[in-house]
Amino acid sequence: MSKLRLGVNIDHVATVRNARGGDTPDPVRAAKLAEDAGADGITAHLREDRRHIGDADIDALMDTLSVPLNFEMAATDEMQKIALRHKPHAVCIVPEKREERTTEGGLEVAREENQLAHFIAPLREAGCRVSIFIAADQRQIEAAHRIGAQVIELHTGAYCDAHTEGDFATRDAELEKMREMSTFAHSLGLEVHAGHGLTYDTVKPVAAFPEVMELNIGHFLIGEAIFRGLQPAMAEMRRLMDEARAGNMA
Ligand code: PXP
Repeated sequence: MSKLRLGVNIDHVATVRNARGGDTPDPVRAAKLAEDAGADGITAHLREDRRHIGDADIDALMDTLSVPLNFEMAATDEMQKIALRHKPHAVCIVPEKREERTTEGGLEVAREENQLAHFIAPLREAGCRVSIFIAADQRQIEAAHRIGAQVIELHTGAYCDAHTEGDFATRDAELEKMREMSTFAHSLGLEVHAGHGLTYDTVKPVAAFPEVMELNIGHFLIGEAIFRGLQPAMAEMRRLMDEARAGNMA
C-alpha cells in the first residue's frame, strides 16, 4: 500500500496568536517545525473573517515552505484572486459560514455544480490541484468529478464526533460510508484525502483505507503539542498512521 501523507493544519497556532492580537505564537514557525518533523504538507485556511490565518501568513508560508501548501478557502471571488496570485500546490474548497466554530459539513457541490465548475477552472489552469472538502455522499462525489476536481477530501467530522460521544453504531456507520465512498471516488480517478477532528483514537481506521492518500490534521495535533511538543505529537500520529497502513489495527 502506498505511504499515507500527513498534512499538518496550523490554523490553531494562529488562533492562539490572535487571542492576544500580537505576533506569537507564529504559525509559520510552527509550519517550519512541522516540515522539519516530516510533515508532507502544510494546510492553512484563510477564512473570510481572518479569525486565525491572515493574509501575511499565507505570503510567508508561500515564501518559506519547502513542502506543498494546501490552501483552504471558500469559493469566493476574493479567495480566488488570492489563490491565483500565490498559485499554491493545492487549493481545497470548503464551505464557510461566519457563525460556525469550525467547518461543519462538506461542500454542497451537486447544487452549485455550474458555478463551481466555473470557479475552479482558472485555479486548475494556474496549475493548482483542486480538492473539494466533501461528505461521503455519492451524489456529491459524482458532482466533484464532473466539475473537474482532481481530489476530494472526505469530512471525517461526523465519524470523530460519534466516537467522542460514545455512539459507536453511528461511528461505525460513518466509517463504512467513508470506506465505500473512498473506493467509489478512487474508481472515478479522484485522489482521496480525509480530515477533520482526527485524533490518536480515531486516526487508524481511516488511515487503513487503501485509497486514502493524505490526512490533514490540525486541532488535535496543535493541542497535543502543548503537552509533548509538536514534533513528538506528530511522530506519534505518524506511527499510528504507518501501523494502520501496515495492517496493525491494535
Ligand atoms: N481538512 C479540512 C478541509 C479542514 O477544514 C480542516 C479544519 O480546518 C481540517 C482538515 C483539519 O481539521 P482538524 O483541525 O479538526 O484536525
